[in-house]
Amino acid sequence: MTLPITKEVIAMFHRLLSYLALLSMSAATWAQSPLDGLTEADIADGKKVFNVHCARCHGIAGQGGEGSNLVRAKLKYASDDDALIALLAEGIPGTGMPAIWLIDDQKRLQVAGYVRTLGRLEAEEMPGDPNRGADIYRGSGGCPACHIIAGHGTGIGPELTHVGDQRGRDYLRQSLTDPAATQSQTRGYKNFLTVRVKSLQKEVEGLRINEDAFTLQVRDMSGTIHSFRKDELTQFEKVFAHSLMPEYSAALSDDDMDDLISYMMSLRSES
Ligand code: HEC
Ligand code: HEC
Repeated sequence: MTLPITKEVIAMFHRLLSYLALLSMSAATWAQSPLDGLTEADIADGKKVFNVHCARCHGIAGQGGEGSNLVRAKLKYASDDDALIALLAEGIPGTGMPAIWLIDDQKRLQVAGYVRTLGRLEAEEMPGDPNRGADIYRGSGGCPACHIIAGHGTGIGPELTHVGDQRGRDYLRQSLTDPAATQSQTRGYKNFLTVRVKSLQKEVEGLRINEDAFTLQVRDMSGTIHSFRKDELTQFEKVFAHSLMPEYSAALSDDDMDDLISYMMSLRSES
């Protein structure tokens, strides 16, 4: 049977249309971010929260320390704002990122908003040519003697395969001009402490890789790892704020420095 086009049918049709409109409206609400309503004042409060609860790991400017560099347009664990907020409440299991219990929901939103403003700084134009930087890294810089990138290189320094996730521009610059300063910012990070140890068999200067109550492992300048029992040590000196990395301010021109930094910034787990 065919439906006569009566008033009832037309009304039904209208109801259907408005129902569809409602549906698409709620889909739009759904796509909105919980951070959309934040004001300038909220972001300023978020910065205060950051300084108290986050800076000790992520650095005052968010450029990385024990925790990762947050001045990145794309964060690995926080693809959207909901994921960012959830991560602050729950931490990231299996990493050093703890759940931040001491702040309430409102403060969590504010600090998440502040983290996103850090990310937007990344969009600014970066000086330097990453390809030239890669050449300097491998060539005149001599960096692979102490660092590994994606399996290439050896030595004492930390692996730089994803250093662009972990560190920001200013931090990277400082690690080239004043390595002892960046080392002391990351002193909590166990790999970065320089130690001098002596046993009856040998004497080693290097980075402490691991230490517990009874044993100590040290990586020397060539990358070799030495294990000691603490009771066999005749000398064990922790040398704070002393880096085994040379300073490069004199060896590299300003342009070389920019190129090298933009190369390191490009070393990411995802681009
Ligand atoms: C005890 C040190 C510590 C504290 C405190 C800390 N973080 Fe982290 N955070 C980390 C570490 C370590 C990681 C890196 C996880 C990884 O990549 O393995 C991390 C990761 C993150 C990430 C994910 C980055 C990415 O690549 O996706 C965000 C976002 C973040 N932290 C924000 C914060 C904020 C905001 C606070 C303060 C409310 C905070 N963290 C406090 C150590 C810390
Ligand atoms: C003689 C060894 C040596 C050489 C050569 C060297 N480094 Fe390092 N580098 C280190 C050590 C050791 C550290 C660990 C922190 C410290 O002691 O300052 C380090 C730290 C770093 C860091 C900081 C990493 C972090 O996560 O905090 C960066 C970046 C870096 N080096 C880049 C370079 C680049 C680029 C070159 C070449 C221009 C280079 N290094 C050459 C030994 C070296």
